[in-house]
Amino acid sequence: MIMERVDLKLKDRICPLLVETGSISKLPEILAQRQAPAQIMAVIDANIAGTHGALAIRELRKHGSEPAVQHVHADEHHKSLDAARELYQAMLQAKCGRDSMVIAIGGGIVTDLAGFVAATYMRGVELALIPSTLLGMVDASIGGKTGVNILNAEGLLLKNMAGSFWQPSFVLIDPMLLRTLPPREFRCGLAECVKHGMIADPALIRFMAVNAEQIMMLDMPVLTTLITESVRIKARIVEEDERECGRRALLNLGHTFAHAIEAVAADDIKHGEAVAIGLVAAMSCAAKRGRFAAAEHETITNLLERFQLPLRLPKPLDASKLSRAILSDKKAAQKKVRLVLPDGIGAASVIDDADDAEILRAWGAVGARINA
Ligand SMILES: NC(=O)c1ccc[n+]([C@@H]2O[C@H](COP(=O)([O-])OP(=O)(O)OC[C@H]3O[C@@H](n4cnc5c(N)ncnc54)[C@H](O)[C@@H]3O)[C@@H](O)[C@H]2O)c1
Repeated sequence: MIMERVDLKLKDRICPLLVETGSISKLPEILAQRQAPAQIMAVIDANIAGTHGALAIRELRKHGSEPAVQHVHADEHHKSLDAARELYQAMLQAKCGRDSMVIAIGGGIVTDLAGFVAATYMRGVELALIPSTLLGMVDASIGGKTGVNILNAEGLLLKNMAGSFWQPSFVLIDPMLLRTLPPREFRCGLAECVKHGMIADPALIRFMAVNAEQIMMLDMPVLTTLITESVRIKARIVEEDERECGRRALLNLGHTFAHAIEAVAADDIKHGEAVAIGLVAAMSCAAKRGRFAAAEHETITNLLERFQLPLRLPKPLDASKLSRAILSDKKAAQKKVRLVLPDGIGAASVIDDADDAEILRAWGAVGARINA
């Protein structure tokens, strides 16, 4: 298959986003073309160390050096300053200098953490990303956001509370890596694809509806198209607003709700599942405001259902607790709730006048317990 290339045009350079099945084997060629440093720190998701990780290391050796390798456990508690410190120490031990390169191979947890380390080690070294989850391919690896989680004084895990923008030199997306991804994780990535279509592209929603079965069966040509189109949407939005001062906030559709759900439900729910429920909550707010038709609601909920994503909370969590978690989220500027709401399928906008009652109603729509 021919390599699909989406150019993410940043202020000062272009970051190529390369999509092709089997493209890990092109790593030496890509590194040579880009005159990448020989000294490489490979940060690899421990769950794929023996499979895709080992393959990537073999390819990196062909680039002409023995990479230093660190395996990382991909859970939110390991996306931490402690894990970052371990990576700094490994880089020091490997004598990585200012001219070295961090290559992350893993899902969003690994790429966010490795990106944070690349952004801060010796005030910043080069970074390349090889995402291994669907969510990583269409979302986490694009746009330069890096970060780690921090526990607040009440013990709530606040996501991405420390971080920085640090753009990779390139992102290499090999859909074949998805063959080993647990189906639940794959479905989580589909929630982000649905989000992208809702924000910017009704054609992507139609493509997913027509090809839902092939997508669920990991049909590689269909997946390559889905990923490329989803990547294109994210890239275009990032290009317009590299530092999330405006339009890029639209990518948070469903996420204000999702982060609150993750904070309260903790290990019972995955990020993409929380996003799916967050999309339903956001659609319910939008419908109440008369900006989202019942038929559009049905199109999206049908799609989420065909992708076996949840439309409601896994158990009736307390709505007031969920609302409090929204206020602790960093996106709730000055205690006002800012939400991204859909304006039909293919457009969305930010509102900052959502009141408590509206948010509580949205929690009710996804099955939260509302105490009178
Ligand atoms: N930087 C951004 O812009 C951005 C955007 C969205 C999400 N994120 C972050 O991404 C994280 C979630 O990332 P994720 O959904 O990719 O999941 P993840 O990194 O948690 O990985 C999910 C699971 O799949 C395993 N895994 C990964 N690839 C595999 C493969 N090919 N085969 C088998 N197992 C594999 C991992 O070990 C892990 O157990 C969150 O921390 C979120 O905050 C960041």
